[in-house]
Amino acid sequence: MNEKQIVIIASECQPFFASGGLADVIGSLPTRIAKLVNTDGEKNQVSVILPLYSKFTNNTYRNKLAYVGQTTVNLSWRKQYCGVFKYSSKGINYYFIDNEYYFKKSSYYGYFDDGERFAFFSKAAIETIKYLDITPDIIHCHDWQTGLVPVYLRTTYYNDERFKETKRIFTVHNIEYQGVYSYDEDILEDVFGLAASDGYLLEYRGQLNIMKGAMETSNYVSTVSPTYAEEIMYAYYAKGLEFEVERIKAEGKLRGILNGIDKTFYNPAKDEALFVKYDKKTPELKLENKVQLQEMLGLTVNKDIPLIGMVTRLVGHKGLELVKSALPEILKQKVQVVILGTGDSYYEWYLRDLERVYRGKLSVIIAFNQDLSRKIYASSDIFLMPSISEPCGLAQMIACRYGALPIVRRTGGLADSIKDFSQAKGNGYVFDNINAEEMLSKVLQAIAEYDNKELWAKHVKAAMACDFGWTNSAKKYVEMYEELLK
Ligand code: GLC
Repeated sequence: MNEKQIVIIASECQPFFASGGLADVIGSLPTRIAKLVNTDGEKNQVSVILPLYSKFTNNTYRNKLAYVGQTTVNLSWRKQYCGVFKYSSKGINYYFIDNEYYFKKSSYYGYFDDGERFAFFSKAAIETIKYLDITPDIIHCHDWQTGLVPVYLRTTYYNDERFKETKRIFTVHNIEYQGVYSYDEDILEDVFGLAASDGYLLEYRGQLNIMKGAMETSNYVSTVSPTYAEEIMYAYYAKGLEFEVERIKAEGKLRGILNGIDKTFYNPAKDEALFVKYDKKTPELKLENKVQLQEMLGLTVNKDIPLIGMVTRLVGHKGLELVKSALPEILKQKVQVVILGTGDSYYEWYLRDLERVYRGKLSVIIAFNQDLSRKIYASSDIFLMPSISEPCGLAQMIACRYGALPIVRRTGGLADSIKDFSQAKGNGYVFDNINAEEMLSKVLQAIAEYDNKELWAKHVKAAMACDFGWTNSAKKYVEMYEELLK
């Protein structure tokens, strides 16, 4: 096989712009894939296509974008400008799609016209590939925002010679968000620019479902952990898509590959965000981080109080109901809790109110703040992540690397990465059921074990020794590509 052209299309990518774990994955996977040679000893050429959001304000990178040119994207009757900018690093070409009408907004998502915005982006990504004269072997799309790419390739571009041999892969990072619209010809034809006769590809339970369309029109579908790939066969996890998941599974199209974390970026020995750097050999320096965080957040300064950290979106499937039920009881203990995140205003306000009651013990920061998040990983003794569903989860891996012992529910990627200390090679505390009492008893166990300095040090050592790097996962992705290209 000659050099393979792999094009990755996604709506977020570190270090340019991020709202969640997707950005971490798109930030590290491409470089890892580019490093690996395929079985014939050839390298892969990887390109990444992203939207150029006005929210991309990190000037270290933004100032380095080079203008490549422009093309026009036809979306139904609309003829839209599509500027192309480029940034290259570590052998990867990143292309940014410019169109301020769609991407000059104060957030990435959450607008009434998200469907149109990402239909434009999906089509623009394909037009950019043509404009750049790339003939892709693989087009690998991520989450519903790019789900129309394989649909367009199967319909609008069906006869395009360039894509005749292209294989399509779709990765589900979270099935909670599917891109669902009412089945309306105006949306199908006028907004998505598809023919009425292609509606069946997107149709699911009487609605237009972009994620379903992507599953239907991709050669392989993967999700971000083996356990999640099993779980989404069930209605409870699949949020309605279980029939489609069952179908692709029966066709042998479904894979589950656990994500890794970028060990260079998430490295407490080199992390500039920390108050004090430390490593496996100096975990006691974590205490210095804790003390400084306590000062910074107005918590009682005392290095002997176990600190529980949470860095999370404040939404139901992250287990916020469990937290809400157990938090008052937890806060009766000799403990401190720091919670960083944004999400449903219901949880935001609940936590803000509770913070007022437990001043000095509970600190709630309603923000998405990467610098602070790493200070929290470094300062926490315990990291709470009681997700109801968790496709992969990266926070539990980062927590281990920073020596904060994770308490997780056995689901999705949490089940695939964290083992209870009662088992061989334990690296955290694991509970099974969606039950606040069960979670609470794990929290109380951890708080109690914290006082046993020797045991705790052993636990921290075990957690910090875990290898959650990308090497294995990237290999599995490349194997999946090769299977398709055989
Ligand atoms: C989504 C999922 C999370 C996963 C991440 C990266 O944010 O909710 O579990 O780790 O995508 O794949």
